[in-house]
Amino acid sequence: KKAGSCRNIDQLSETLARSRSYDEQLEAWAGWHATARPTRNDYQRMVELANEGARELGYKDLGAQWRSGYDMSAEAFAAEAERLYGQVQPLYKQLHCYARARLQNKYGADKVPSGKPIPAHLLGNMWAQQWNKIYDLLEPYPGVANLNVDQSLKDQGYDAQRMMKSAENFYVSLGFPQLPGTFWERSMLTRPQDRNVVCHASAWDIDSRRKDVRIKMCATPTEEDLTTMYHELGHIYYDLWYADQPFMFHGGAHDGFHEAIGDTINLSMTPGYLRTINLVGDVKPSQQFVINQQMKMALDKIAFLPFGKLIDEWRWKVFSGEIRPENYNAAWWELRRQYQGVAPAVARTEEDFDPGAKYHIPANVPYTRYFLSFIIQFQFHKALCQAAGYKGPLSECSIYGNKEAGK
Ligand code: ASP
Ligand code: SER
Ligand code: ZN
Repeated sequence: KKAGSCRNIDQLSETLARSRSYDEQLEAWAGWHATARPTRNDYQRMVELANEGARELGYKDLGAQWRSGYDMSAEAFAAEAERLYGQVQPLYKQLHCYARARLQNKYGADKVPSGKPIPAHLLGNMWAQQWNKIYDLLEPYPGVANLNVDQSLKDQGYDAQRMMKSAENFYVSLGFPQLPGTFWERSMLTRPQDRNVVCHASAWDIDSRRKDVRIKMCATPTEEDLTTMYHELGHIYYDLWYADQPFMFHGGAHDGFHEAIGDTINLSMTPGYLRTINLVGDVKPSQQFVINQQMKMALDKIAFLPFGKLIDEWRWKVFSGEIRPENYNAAWWELRRQYQGVAPAVARTEEDFDPGAKYHIPANVPYTRYFLSFIIQFQFHKALCQAAGYKGPLSECSIYGNKEAGK
């Protein structure tokens, strides 16, 4: 590596997504995680300050405050999250077992041993939170209809604006209004060259009563970023929809609802829909194709569940003091091993601060919202498909263009 050739998170993520070299991926993984080391002290101080604020508001600690937004006690909510996880965990275990076998084929039994956690840098994603980038290694029926949206976006010269237009068009097709002009003027959709910015995608209700809503992200023409735009617009349309409510109602039914709106729309981005908007070619329906599709979906939606659950399990214990600062990293990896069945391939110590390498930890964004969303979005999708009068397998249902579902 040349001096001065520092890579940013986009580039390191690209390495994890595309390189199939064990060592190259490990270098990218270790390099990014090293950047979080110096944030440990600030994080520890932030925890103290945040708890002080939570206590002034009458909560035991910030974790208790976060758990109290669900119309039940903090204890009841923790139990409910546990109950939900118990229901879906068997799906994850099967997926994990399948993935480990395939990765063992690829990298060898010395690197990916049976019965042991999977090395955390081999799942195609910096946090091993979603595994769809290694679909090529896990495809059940290789060669049956290749749906390469990335390639189509590039071939057709899509830029960030046009991708966002595509997302807007989906919502408009359901009966929602077009986005306000200021959205296009004031959003940041690509990485600026002249300054450092926070690139993690987010949606902002700046002043929805005056229709000032914005998205901040650093998009490139990829399927992932296209999907993220549909996700972020879920927040934006939710904001616009309750803009005329009293201030106390400017929020989701709970934060999991807010996350689930756009993801529910994502579930309608079926091969059939992508065909309609010309991002994939004709696909011959077959049983093998369906299995491939559902594997791709599982690598996104099932793989995420333990990750979605463990992030706040760690933070709840950090805020309550059950996890002490001198144990931050060890406790993190214990949860990663327990829940995700992954382990770091290089030694970690308390010099490291690996939780800090995941955006939502330093940004202090609660994460159980995503876990809840990854459950309820399927319930929403089912209900919308019913409203649309759709008959047939739910995995093939798209509510695109359906005003009844939109209503
Ligand atoms: N804001 C989204 C997530 O953090 C965007 C992303 O997927 O990058 O919820
Ligand atoms: N957007 C969330 C994240 O990036 C959940 O997918 O972690
Ligand atoms: Zn979101």
